[in-house]
Amino acid sequence: MKILIKNGRVIDPANKVDEALDILVEDSKIAQVAKDIKAEAETVIDASAMIVMPGFVDMHVHLREPGREDKETVATGTRAALAGGVTSVLAMPNTQPCPDSTESVELIKNIVANCATCNVFVCGAITKGRKGEEIIDIAKLKKEGVIAISDDGVSVDSDELMLDAFKRAAKEKVVVICHSEDRKLSAGGVVNLGFTSTRMGLRGVSKESEFARVKRDIELAQKTKAVVHIAHVSCKESVGIIAAAKKEGLKVTCETAPHYFALDESAVLGYDTNFKMNPPLRGKDDVKAVKEGLADGTIDAIASDHAPHTENEKEIEFERSEFGVIGLETELSAAITELIESGILKWKDLAEKFALNPARILRIDRGTLGIGAIADIVIFSPKKEWVVQKEKILSKSKNSPFLGKKLKGVVEYTICFGKIVYPFSK
Ligand code: DOR
Ligand code: ZN
Repeated sequence: MKILIKNGRVIDPANKVDEALDILVEDSKIAQVAKDIKAEAETVIDASAMIVMPGFVDMHVHLREPGREDKETVATGTRAALAGGVTSVLAMPNTQPCPDSTESVELIKNIVANCATCNVFVCGAITKGRKGEEIIDIAKLKKEGVIAISDDGVSVDSDELMLDAFKRAAKEKVVVICHSEDRKLSAGGVVNLGFTSTRMGLRGVSKESEFARVKRDIELAQKTKAVVHIAHVSCKESVGIIAAAKKEGLKVTCETAPHYFALDESAVLGYDTNFKMNPPLRGKDDVKAVKEGLADGTIDAIASDHAPHTENEKEIEFERSEFGVIGLETELSAAITELIESGILKWKDLAEKFALNPARILRIDRGTLGIGAIADIVIFSPKKEWVVQKEKILSKSKNSPFLGKKLKGVVEYTICFGKIVYPFSK
């Protein structure tokens, strides 16, 4: 089975490629990347005026299965991923059961084997039941295929336990993904602390609840030489702490999500719960710092933090509604609209943040279009515009903060493991 992609602008930072080229895909691999490839192929894609990049690796996705199939399933979530140009997702562990044992990881792997249409990598829990009390058997779960650990949704409060987790993770060479939040400081908060919380009459979440924990997580990791990755960075101080740590040569990486660079706290003033997530949308200064962090390389990756919730859980009072927004189908377009159009990122940077860097952080053989690499590819029209409409969303949940917004950039084809998987054949 051969696919020939003609005349696209191929952007592959791993190989320092950025020019109009053809790509020949043969079976599951990239067979050739060159000008004017003359080969017979079953399928020929005319990619003129389109950009061709390695398929995106979204390292923060809540697929909800097993346990909350009413919000999302592996089948619906991976379909949404493909529509967004995402060919690999890291499935976060706040499922029921959570991946904290051989049995629960096997259960998730079985569901993935039967239902996933893109690559799904499993993020195990740090502690049993994500309760912050007892560390899981990291070596055993690594053997089961778990590639990272996190208690995402919550932070491990005990310094002692977290230090021990870092020690064990360092020994097993497993990356620890930190949801950095001190709940002693954030408890009960639903929006950013300050003007917004006062104006809305709602309890606020201080930035300190995030950055104090970012600082702690980096310090503990440093003591053990563990590899630490900070999830969903939302504020200026966190960006500063991570930048300083990197300057000192510490092994730390981080991600942000599109809502933290595309939106600020003023979006929640209308009490629309599609702008409620954890950490919350912050101030304009924070948005600026997140953008600068992306531009200067402090922030390594963009991940959706795709967090589907049902209408029943979202269309209620702001305080009672769930935290989280979906993002798989809009992340590329949000980044083009906010970061490329304004010149904050170059196309090469975008390919790094969405594909190469997350693949490197997770140490998976993805994120490149090198010859012999697995053929996971996204092809998109960078200038086409579209309006995000609830009816067109593929995810089972519709809680997008971009509903009604006009965004730039349309995914035309997604190729996963050498097969055209988007547009869908049925
Ligand atoms: O907004 C969020 N939603 N933040 C998290 O950390 C968890 C996520 C979820 O699982 O819904
Ligand atoms: Zn989180």
